[in-house]
Amino acid sequence: MGRGSGFGKVILFNEHFVVHGIPGIVSAMDSAADAKVKKLDKGGIIVRDERKRAKGYAEKKKIQQKESINRMLQVMEIDPKQISLDIWLGGNLPGFSGIGASAASSVAIARAMAEEFGMNLSDERINEIAYEAEKAYAGTPSGIDNTAATFGGLIWFKKNLEGGPNTIERLSIDKPVEIILANTGVVADTKQMVLGVAERKKKYPEKYNPFFKQAEELVFEARKVLEDFDLKKVGELMNESHSLLQGIEVSCKELDYLVKLARDQGAFGAKMTGGGGGGCIVALTPGKELQETVASTIEKEGFKVLRTKVGIKKS
Ligand code: PMV
Repeated sequence: MGRGSGFGKVILFNEHFVVHGIPGIVSAMDSAADAKVKKLDKGGIIVRDERKRAKGYAEKKKIQQKESINRMLQVMEIDPKQISLDIWLGGNLPGFSGIGASAASSVAIARAMAEEFGMNLSDERINEIAYEAEKAYAGTPSGIDNTAATFGGLIWFKKNLEGGPNTIERLSIDKPVEIILANTGVVADTKQMVLGVAERKKKYPEKYNPFFKQAEELVFEARKVLEDFDLKKVGELMNESHSLLQGIEVSCKELDYLVKLARDQGAFGAKMTGGGGGGCIVALTPGKELQETVASTIEKEGFKVLRTKVGIKKS
């Protein structure tokens, strides 16, 4: 049996903008998806998805999950018609929208598959395979999710729009910082959200281009204040980032509600994270006490919350 894991991620700056070549900042979380892959004599490809997840997540993602596995098999040069496999998915990363659950599971499966088939693959190759799988979930993904899921840590990411290698730089901060992720409970389709932005950007350039310009300026400033460990400023920039995401119409009333709730409870900053249209918000809540205050208030309102940290170095 082959085993593998992939990190969950939280995009701190510039989801969506990264698809169009603007840099983004992403952090792996200390939660991961785990996979086990075992060759079978017969029975086709069986997927047993035992991850904790939001209601409706598995049903909504089932077809995309199947396509993603087929894409992976293809790039790994394994003929799905010639083999039968038992694929198990678990781990402590919940199946929520917006925390890179799909990319984390693709990395986990690619690693487990490679082990089961005796392939000795580098992280770079695993990342390429997971990128192919991500196309099933995100249409034209930037690659930021699979990069964080493969390598872990805090990453500065810029997609190369000409098809060459993407820019992936490791960032380091003084120490890991507490955040919370709160789930709206609305399962969103990243592929549709990404497509929607591309269409509107093309149709309304005079409205959309300024948001892209501001997002580019903001992310350079964010990198600086993160590296300076100026958390108040990081929080302010997260708030600004949320406004830009509202501008390109990927937020929704549930996300805006949670963002406000987190800010009202003293979070240094809060924004939607990931594809939007539902899924999660991320709030910067340095220190266990603030993290607990924000998390428990949101939970009392009936939402699911994940308490975690950003900036953890990959072990
Ligand atoms: O919804 P998630 O967690 O898969 O995040 C998607 C991030 C996007 O920027 C919207 C798409 C991408 O490929 O970068």
